[in-house]
Amino acid sequence: MKRLVLWLAAALALASCGRPAEPEAEDRSARAQFPPDKHGELVYQGYRVFTQTPKAARIYTGNSLTCASCHLDAGRKAHAAPMWAAFAMYPAYLSKVDRVVTLEERIQQCFRFSMNGFSPPQDSHEMRALIAYMQWLAIDRPVGVEQPGRGFPTVPRTGSDPNPLRGKQIYAQRCASCHGGQGEGMGYQEIQGTYAVPPVWGFNSFNKGAGMHRADLLAGFLKANMPLGNADLSDQDALDVAAWMGLQERWPDPRKGLLPGLLAQ
Ligand code: HEC
Ligand code: HEC
Repeated sequence: MKRLVLWLAAALALASCGRPAEPEAEDRSARAQFPPDKHGELVYQGYRVFTQTPKAARIYTGNSLTCASCHLDAGRKAHAAPMWAAFAMYPAYLSKVDRVVTLEERIQQCFRFSMNGFSPPQDSHEMRALIAYMQWLAIDRPVGVEQPGRGFPTVPRTGSDPNPLRGKQIYAQRCASCHGGQGEGMGYQEIQGTYAVPPVWGFNSFNKGAGMHRADLLAGFLKANMPLGNADLSDQDALDVAAWMGLQERWPDPRKGLLPGLLAQ
C-alpha cells in the first residue's frame, strides 16, 4: 500500500512538472482539424506520425527528421511531394526497384532512406494511421490522374556543370542562418526529438539511399521550397547547393552495407 502511494505521488509529480503547457495546447488544436469521430481519431494519429515522426513512430525512425521536414505543410504543399497528389497514384511503377509498388511500400522506402530507419509492417498501427491521413487529404481528388504540384519540380539542364564550391558560398549566405554552418539544424526540441529547423546533413539527417541524396531531386525541392518562405534560387543556384550538400557526411545507403558505405562513397 505504502509503495502504491509512493508510485502515485511520483506519477503525479511527473505529470505536473514533466511537460510544458504549450505542446499540449498545440496537440489539442491539431486534433480539432479532424472530425471528432473514430475515423477522425485515426486520421489525427496519422497526422502525428507525419509531423512528429521520431516521437509517434519511434521504433521505425533513425534520425531527427519528420515526414513534414520534406513534405512541407504536413504533406499539403504543392511542389513538395504532397500526399493528396500521391495517394491516388498508387500502386505505381517505380524505377528504383523496377516493379509496381503499393503506397505502403513507397512509405516504407521513405522510412528506410529518408528517415534512416526501418520499414513499418504494412499492418502496423503507424502505417494504418498514415494511410488514413493521406486518404483524408485526398478526399474529392481525382483517382489515377497526375495532378499539377505532384512530386518536386524538375530543374532543367543549365549547360554548366553543378559547381559545389559555388554551392558552398550560396549555402553560407542563404541557408546557414537557419540550418546551421555545419548543416546540423537548429532548435532541438527534446520532447519531440526533432529540430525547429531540421539538419540537412550529418548523422541526424537522411542517408545516402534517400531520394534527397540525388542532386536532381534535391535541386528540384530547393528550387520550389528553399529558403523557406522565400524560394528564389535560380536553376544553377539550386544545382550548385545540391552538389555541395551531396559531398557532406551522412549515413551510407543501407542496401550497400555499413562498412563499404563508410569507406567508399
Ligand atoms: C529527407 C526528405 C524526406 C523525408 C523526411 C520523407 N520523404 Fe517521402 N519523399 C521524399 C522524396 C525525395 C520523394 C520522391 C519524390 C519524387 O520522386 O518526386 C518522396 C516520396 C514520397 C512519397 C511518394 C510521393 C509521390 O507522389 O509518388 C510518399 C507517399 C512519401 N514520400 C511519404 C513519406 C512519409 C510517410 C514520410 C515519413 C515517414 C516521408 N515520406 C519522409 C523525401 C522525403
Ligand atoms: C528561414 C529558415 C530557412 C532557410 C533560410 C532555409 N531553410 Fe531549409 N528548411 C527550413 C525548415 C523550417 C525546414 C523544415 C520544414 C518543416 O518542418 O515544416 C526546412 C527543410 C529543408 C530540407 C529538407 C529537410 C532536411 O533537413 O533535409 C532541406 C534539404 C533544406 N531545408 C535545405 C535548405 C537549403 C539548401 C537552404 C538554402 C538555399 C535552406 N534550406 C534555407 C528552414 C529554412
